[in-house]
Parts: sequence; C-alpha cells; structure tokens
Amino acid sequence: MESRMTITCIKDLQRLARRRVPKMFYDYADSGSWTESTYRANESDFARIGLRQRVMVDMDNRSLATRMLGEEVSMPVALAPTGLTGMQHADGEMLAARAAANFGVPFTLSTMSICSIEDVAEVSSRPFWFQLYVMRDKDYISRLIDRAKAAQCSALVLTADLQIIGQRHKDLINGLSVPPRPTVATALNLATKWRWCAGMMRTQRRTFGNIAGHVKDADNLSSLSKWTASQFDPSLSWDDIKWIKDKWGGKLIIKGIMEPEDAEMAVRAGADAVIVSNHGGRQLDGAPSSISALPDIVSAVGSSTEVHMDGGIRSGQDVLKAVALGAKGVYIGRAFLYGLGAKGEQGVTQTLEIIQRELDTTLALCGLRDIHDVNHRVLREGTYPLAGSASLWASSTRSTE
Ligand code: GLV
Repeated sequence: MESRMTITCIKDLQRLARRRVPKMFYDYADSGSWTESTYRANESDFARIGLRQRVMVDMDNRSLATRMLGEEVSMPVALAPTGLTGMQHADGEMLAARAAANFGVPFTLSTMSICSIEDVAEVSSRPFWFQLYVMRDKDYISRLIDRAKAAQCSALVLTADLQIIGQRHKDLINGLSVPPRPTVATALNLATKWRWCAGMMRTQRRTFGNIAGHVKDADNLSSLSKWTASQFDPSLSWDDIKWIKDKWGGKLIIKGIMEPEDAEMAVRAGADAVIVSNHGGRQLDGAPSSISALPDIVSAVGSSTEVHMDGGIRSGQDVLKAVALGAKGVYIGRAFLYGLGAKGEQGVTQTLEIIQRELDTTLALCGLRDIHDVNHRVLREGTYPLAGSASLWASSTRSTE
C-alpha cells in the first residue's frame, strides 16, 4: 500500500522510514553513543542559531551552485558515508549514489557498505568519493585503495575518529547483525516490514560488499563480523597518512576533526579538506556539536584548506547556517538515510529536493541571491558561536597555570 502521508520536510521522511525499516537498522542510523548528548546537540545547536530577515532587495535569479574540492555541485551538500546503507533499503548505496549523481552532488561510499565499490561504480554517472577506515590488515587497505582508484573515485575520505567504536546502547539491545540473526524478536519485527523483505529477497547484496570475498578467512558471516570487530586499527596516527596519501595519489579529505590543533595536524599531513565531525554523535559522547566547533577550525585552517562539516543537518536552513560560519560544504547522513528507508531512490531525491528548496527560500528571505554571498552577517548576533573562542580559552588556561 502506498503511503498517503504528505511529505513536507525531513521529519516526515524520518517517520515513514521508522515504519518501513526493520527496527535494528532504523535504530542503528538513528542513534548516538552512550547518553546521546552530542547526537542531540548536533541538531539543537543549529536550532538556536537565528537568521536576519532582509526585505525589498532583488531576490530574482538565485544560485546555489558552487564547488566542493574543485567539483561542481548543484548546492554545497554531499551525501555522507554511512555504514550498512544497503540495510536501510535493498541496494541502498547504489540507489543513493544514483540519486546524488542525478542531482549533481557527491556521494560518499563507506568502507562498511553493503554494495561494493564496483557495484556503485556501475550505476553512478558521476565519480563518487570513497570513505576509508584504516584497518590493521594493511594489504587489505592497499587493495581497497586500488579498487577505489580503479572505480575512478575522485576523493578519498579518511575517517580519523573511529579507531575504537563508541558504544551505542540501542545496537547492543537490538543485537545488531548483518544480515539480521533469526531471533523471535527479529522475525516478529520483519513480519511487519514486507516492503523491506521483498527488496532483500530480490537482491544478493546482504553483507559487507567491500570485505566479503576480499579477505582471507572472512567469507562467512560469523568470521566476517569477528574480523571487522578485530580490524579497526587503534594505533592509527598522523604518520600513517603519508603512505595512504602516496598510495592514493588523489584528493584526500580527513574526517572527524573537532579541534583546531587536529585541523592543523591534518593540513600538515597533506589533507586537501577536513570535515568537522563528531561522527554524528556516535563516538565521543560529550564532544561539542559540530556546528559549534566549526568557527574555530575555519579560523585555524580555513584560509588554506577547505573546511566541510557534518552532524545535525536536517534542513536547508542548517546548510545555510553552516555555510555562514565558514563551511565550504556539508554532508547529510541521517537525512538521506530516512529518505532511502522511506522510499528508496525516490526518497533520496526527495531529501535533496527538500533541502534545496529550504536552502533556496532561506537564501532569498535573508536578502541574498548567490550562495557565495552567504557569510556570518545573515546570522543574528549572539545566537551563534564566535570564531576565536578556542584561542581565548587557550590564553585563559595558560594564564591560570
Ligand atoms: C560507522 O561508521 C558507524 O558509525 O556505525
């Protein structure tokens, strides 16, 4: 039965996704670590930032088009790398990559995806970006980088904040596994998700496509999950960036930067862009929201390096606020996963349309016509974090030492 629900905003897609996606995968996407305080702050800190309404200025012929890392984008928004996307909807990564390419924005494929690099390359009409988790097995990482090169990925996004995993209570309670383990609770829940089940029966892609068949001793589910749990490399350091950068040879984005000094280290290590990110509140609970961390990082490295951000973007207004605080582009994760879980490829397109419309309308009502003209002057003073607060803090701690 088609849903008769009128979709007006991302929250509507979220509600529909909650109905259609099995609980363990919906919860996987819609959760943060421990108390979820950082997860909540990502959204609520955006809501606190106010905008300045301007009137009687020519708002005709508006443009949101710009560039992220030298690539033309129809608006400064990319799809974030999200794990297990093909469990929100059958063939999820392929559908989302196609929707993003048709819309003119970058898609980033996660190492922990269900569809493989090669699957996505086959359907995407635009080069996509590949997100790399650095694992202990360096031969595997080296082959993975070769595969991303062969697929003509146009940027490598190295995630720096998941050397060990932040505990997400819901995943433990739900017994998250890929594919789902046949328990009574799971069977009862799946019985109410016929649409999802039908999609999964039609596809062969039900496990980690970038890993299965590419790693010795990891070709069945239990050894694969054991391998994954044991493989994230806790000893990863800035020294590792050099060989990865040399091996990759293309544009490198470092994701998971929350402090100006780490941003400076990333630039020194050769990053072409950094992503201000707390991993959607899924790693260090208690870390600040991404939007509050953004201004100091822009002030530290923004003149020489592109600064992007993710975390909490649920509307076009949020995109405008992040751009006003210095982001050259933002990533949406959950926002597109909700669209995907709700309606597959069409839902991802709808997510992008909603965000584009909201961004365009907000730009106009702030009295601007071109996304390049957005700066902190569109924001109401006192409602947003100021750049330089980190250096103020540093000098005050120094004076009390
Ligand atoms: C993986 O990227 C996760 O946050 O689960």
